[in-house]
Amino acid sequence: MSDEAGTGNSVARARSHYDRDLTDRFYHAVWAEDDLLIGVGLFERPGDSLQTACRRTVRRLMDRLPDAPQNRALSVLDLGGGYGASARMLVQERRCRVVCVNLGALQNRAHRSRNAALGLADRITVVDGDFQDLPEDLGSFDVVWSQDSFVHASDRPRLFAEMDRVAGPGGHILFTDLLRQPDCPEEALAHVHARLGLSDIATLQGYCELARDRQWTVAEAVDLSDHILAHYRCLRATLDSRWAELLETFRADDLSRIGQGIDVWIAAAAQGHLRWGLFHFEKPCR
Ligand SMILES: C[S@@+](CC[C@H](N)C(=O)[O-])C[C@H]1O[C@@H](n2cnc3c(N)ncnc32)[C@H](O)[C@@H]1O
Repeated sequence: MSDEAGTGNSVARARSHYDRDLTDRFYHAVWAEDDLLIGVGLFERPGDSLQTACRRTVRRLMDRLPDAPQNRALSVLDLGGGYGASARMLVQERRCRVVCVNLGALQNRAHRSRNAALGLADRITVVDGDFQDLPEDLGSFDVVWSQDSFVHASDRPRLFAEMDRVAGPGGHILFTDLLRQPDCPEEALAHVHARLGLSDIATLQGYCELARDRQWTVAEAVDLSDHILAHYRCLRATLDSRWAELLETFRADDLSRIGQGIDVWIAAAAQGHLRWGLFHFEKPCR
């Protein structure tokens, strides 16, 4: 089904990025302090670490969660949930029930084992899969949630159709994502595309149009691009400050390549080509 729709290549490219041992080790060594969030952070205070800023993003999205129904927990579907840190926050801080659909096998394994260690396995279900081709029997959710994963989609109308299918009546669609400036020349983001094997990057307006095509209300669509520049600068500074220590477990040429990759993102964000936004859409109640 994925291949017919032309999404198979984007899935294979994303999988080959996230399932690489080097990527996995880098995320654990440089991004994690406690629980591993690998999206973009909200940098509001001087000296914020990556994880403090990333946790702030989760809480900013959580502020927009609807109240739980009277007789049960709020159900959340996290698309591209990585190592599961957001899912755990949703359970621990807001008592939600969460299903994560994510394609990274290494991440899903780590996610399940951390949930089990914390006694959260009965509140979080981890499904191996592609968010552009969700399982037929997934059920319906009060909230569809995602952080910085839709950038990997190659068929966004189909992704939105899938979210429409699984969001219940009156459901909320909450996500952050990397964006491009609408008039940005194609070559300006070529290196960014190449690094993650991306098909194309959406615009803020493009996401709002897709939502309106589905008759969803745009409750919030906000450009938070200053934070993506701060985020990648913080990542670069963290890498540099820990370079000597990281050389004990990483090869120097791997660290240099990772550093060059981060510099590409910093340049694209500093030039205003690469942007970042937060979205809250609401599906009609009928
Ligand atoms: C930048 S990471 C963000 C992870 C997580 N949301 C977080 O903030 O920590 C992007 C995630 O998207 C997932 N992903 C990419 N393409 C996907 C697809 N087609 N279906 C499901 N997950 C996908 C990857 O496995 C990865 O975990």
